Amino acid sequence: MEQNKKACTRASQNKYLIGALVIAPMVLTLAACGGGTSGGSAATKTPAATAAAESNPAFVKAQELFTTNKCISCHGVDLAGKVGPKTNLQKVGSRLSSEQIANKIKNGGGGMPVYKTTISEEEIGLLSEWLNSKK
Ligand code: HEC
Repeated sequence: MEQNKKACTRASQNKYLIGALVIAPMVLTLAACGGGTSGGSAATKTPAATAAAESNPAFVKAQELFTTNKCISCHGVDLAGKVGPKTNLQKVGSRLSSEQIANKIKNGGGGMPVYKTTISEEEIGLLSEWLNSKK
């Protein structure tokens, strides 16, 4: 128990040092520490610079959607892209507005599947906001 707590504290302190590449496992760690509650402590400590980190519950949800909808099969779990440079989404937020991202997800094109019939408007919104935070 005690040791668990310590590990959690350490994980959140190291949060800012750990690069984007390990965000996914980190989120798992934080989620485990939060014990399924709203994770208020992680949210209050997040400075603006790391607001993009998936400690934001909406972004955690978006990341889940990204996995469950198989986006990762083409874009990769680290967003580096698996089927060509155009599928790299690591800085998609500096290229496209969240609206443009939403449109791409809805309408697809250029190898990107159409998602407007499989994902709700709200979920597309979450995904777009999250991807738009990737700058
Ligand atoms: C079958 C492979 C595939 C899947 C699955 C896929 N994409 Fe894509 N995606 C692509 C390709 C290829 C492009 C580049 C399209 C182009 O050149 O216009 C792309 C482009 C994008 C872009 C625009 C990137 C840019 O810089 O213009 C976004 C945003 C995006 N995908 C998000 C998603 C999301 C979110 C999902 C899951 C809901 C998803 N993709 C699933 C293949 C895929």
